[in-house]
Amino acid sequence: MATERTFPIIKPDAPARNLTGAINAVIEKSGLRIVAQKRVRWTRAQAEKFYEEHKARPFYGELADFMTSGPIVLQVLEGEGAIAKYREVMGATDPKEAKDGTIRKLFAVSKAETSTHGSDSPAAADREIALNFRLDEIVG
Ligand code: TYD
Ligand code: MG
Repeated sequence: MATERTFPIIKPDAPARNLTGAINAVIEKSGLRIVAQKRVRWTRAQAEKFYEEHKARPFYGELADFMTSGPIVLQVLEGEGAIAKYREVMGATDPKEAKDGTIRKLFAVSKAETSTHGSDSPAAADREIALNFRLDEIVG
């Protein structure tokens, strides 16, 4: 399997509870490497653009509200098969369905406040990284 990059976000519910480092400990224990990271606050326009694939879904407005409700941590992770691997480390969207040891099982509040985002395909990872990082901000 090839070395890949994926794009996580530590979502507002987690920094609000001082869980950034705890989530990063799970990431690093999995073998994935954090090659870029910055704490920001998104505008509503940034949140809507990032999640535009979900525009028609009933939760779109609440998702944009949530993602702009506080600081978030944008990341790039690197590793073998990083995209699928981080989806596993992250766990199912609904924390009640997430497997033991996953970030969402450990930390997520609900199906809406899921503590972390992870890219779901190589095309999504490319798009999400390009939207959020300059190339010189990623140091592999
Ligand atoms: P989705 O891409 O389906 O989940 P994932 O984050 O696991 O890739 O949905 C994006 C986000 O939308 C999800 O992290 C939280 C929010 N969401 C809801 O608020 N309610 C829902 O019923 C679903 C499916 C998602
Ligand atoms: Mg998704």
